[in-house]
Amino acid sequence: MTDRPTYCFIGAGSMTEALLSGLLSRGMLTGERITIMNRQNHERVRQLARQYGVILPADRKSAVSQADIVILAIKPKDAAEALEQWGRYIRPGQRVISVIAGISTSFIEERLATGTAVIRAMPNTSGTVGLSATALCPGLYAEEADLEEAARFFSSIGITVVVKEEDMDAVTGLSGSGPAYIYYLVEALEKAGVSMGLTPAVSRRLTLQTLLGAAKMLQETGEDPAELRRKVASPGGTTMAGLETLAQHKFQDALILAVQQARRRSLELGRSTAGK
Ligand SMILES: NC(=O)c1ccc[n+]([C@@H]2O[C@H](COP(=O)([O-])OP(=O)(O)OC[C@H]3O[C@@H](n4cnc5c(N)ncnc54)[C@H](OP(=O)(O)O)[C@@H]3O)[C@@H](O)[C@H]2O)c1
Repeated sequence: MTDRPTYCFIGAGSMTEALLSGLLSRGMLTGERITIMNRQNHERVRQLARQYGVILPADRKSAVSQADIVILAIKPKDAAEALEQWGRYIRPGQRVISVIAGISTSFIEERLATGTAVIRAMPNTSGTVGLSATALCPGLYAEEADLEEAARFFSSIGITVVVKEEDMDAVTGLSGSGPAYIYYLVEALEKAGVSMGLTPAVSRRLTLQTLLGAAKMLQETGEDPAELRRKVASPGGTTMAGLETLAQHKFQDALILAVQQARRRSLELGRSTAGK
């Protein structure tokens, strides 16, 4: 493996675009070391190639076989077909990074030459702005160096943690789907502001800054969120009135259930794909 590895993305959809935009804008990679491909939507590949300066390969098989690192960025339902199509061009010595939700490393390994290093990753879409929360887990043949390379790759678009593979569905429910829960919360806060007469623009600005400020407080003070919450809410005060209403409506329970249901769905999707 060279100091300046080459990459081949199989699947040029939203996740690949989020990764390209994060990686290239942070100077971690240069476009000439990256090839991308799709199954049939070649116009999309041409558009990404123009936008990010990455390579549209003339020969897709050689692009796969010559890349130091192959990134699998297809939908779970297309994983078996894509591995059937491209797996034969991947050999041990290359590294495979999969961002396919719910697909186990063993599912991938069974479709590749024995001994190929596979790393499974669950980034989230905030990688577009360099703030992904990415969990990684190694497959059977992945060694420390493979995991380090994958961590280096994803650390340019945010933070990385290493977890056991059995925890990947929980990660999917929490941080994989997590940005959508936050957007949903922001929608509700904005609507609340507007319902009380604020303009949508003012409501959005206030909500966004409140979100950023709270996130920064958590990050910079290192304090427990429950402690920070108690500091805002004095007994009998306005915040307490709001928090009591959230408790009455089981706000925390609803969020916990949402994450658990997303995990359950990830398990289900993994099982149904693995059964094919
Ligand atoms: N988006 C997220 O927030 C997020 C977060 C974490 C993980 N993920 C995971 O990332 C993966 C990709 O998601 P996405 O949102 O980027 O999906 P997407 O936008 O649908 O892109 C998937 C791409 O894969 C291509 N493809 C399918 N079969 C192929 C094959 N045999 N050979 C080459 N290319 C093939 C498709 O090309 P055609 O259009 O030509 O068929 C399509 O462009 C999924 O497994 C998802 O679970 C996504």
